[in-house]
Amino acid sequence: TLPRKVRLVEVGPRDGLQNEKQLVPADIKVELIRRLAAAGLSTIEVTSFVSPKWVPQMGDNTEVLTRVLGGAAPAGLDYPVLTPNLKGFEAALAAGAREVAVFGAASESFSQKNINCSIAESLERFRPVTEVAQAAGVRVRGYVSCVAGCPYEGAVAPEKVAEVAETLLAMGCYEISLGDTIGTGNPVSIRRMLDAVLRRVPAERLAGHYHDTYGMAAANVCASLEMGVAVFDASVGGLGGCPYAAGASGNVATEDLVWLLHGMGIDTGIDLDALVDTAAWISAEIGREPASRVARAVLAK
Ligand code: HMG
Ligand code: MG
Repeated sequence: TLPRKVRLVEVGPRDGLQNEKQLVPADIKVELIRRLAAAGLSTIEVTSFVSPKWVPQMGDNTEVLTRVLGGAAPAGLDYPVLTPNLKGFEAALAAGAREVAVFGAASESFSQKNINCSIAESLERFRPVTEVAQAAGVRVRGYVSCVAGCPYEGAVAPEKVAEVAETLLAMGCYEISLGDTIGTGNPVSIRRMLDAVLRRVPAERLAGHYHDTYGMAAANVCASLEMGVAVFDASVGGLGGCPYAAGASGNVATEDLVWLLHGMGIDTGIDLDALVDTAAWISAEIGREPASRVARAVLAK
């Protein structure tokens, strides 16, 4: 049976904008986050506390997080940020973060390219982050990248995904987000991967994070829904990609998922029209049309 309600985690301001060639000003990011919250998104990943030499697009992390937390934000909103290590965590905490995410991978080559260390080393770096976070009352989410394929290694074993997911859960992550970083998954391979993960992590603790590079993300969400996953990451306007995965395009567009889920009778709490207006606005700000079919169809009406 399908869930009656799905929680969408908006990752456009982070996963989307981290991959824009031009630097998007903090004013625009803050306005984007305000509009997303007004459209009903209750969890918005706002930035990442990574090295500005590696990802200059997120170099304004402290300003963006401080401003969104300082504004008259409606209660009940979560603004998670990425923190790859203790240095990032300390900076996020100083800026007021109440939720962070650590991000590992199921592929060794991707781990090296993305965060400059092996999978095992990354897990050893995440452990103190989760410990310090727990002591400070900060929630930690865990990502696993390359769950359905790696840009450098090709196929990734479902068992490896399950192993990393289980380790992150045991460390205290409240939810594990499974990243199809390069969008090469399909409903069969996603099911196979979830089969392995579900033997070690319950569905209530999982989220799907599917990039739409080959247009398969909505199908992969449907396959995951059928297996009990009820949290999905998405990016308004289909913004984004990944700087360490050549050819990766954006996450599934938030408006595509809202259209899909509402059409299936599943509640999201999100106002589709306000979301599409936001997709059109941010796409214009970065000089392009919204990538998503739903945004184009709704705007054409
Ligand atoms: P490193 O070079 O191995 O780190 O980078 P280091 O500890 O050796 O430090 C080197 C320098 O970086 C030092 O500065 C540190 O202070 C600084 P220097 O002395 O040279 O001036 N540094 C930092 N500065 C700011 N914030 C920090 C930080 N840590 C060290 N937190 C590191 C390791 C992880 C920092 C680096 O590799 C990095 O920043 N990588 C960027 C990773 C990234 O943002 N990737 C994209 C997000 S992940 C993603 O998109 C996938 C996801 O969406 C899921 C999916 O789709 O699969 C989540
Ligand atoms: Mg991603």
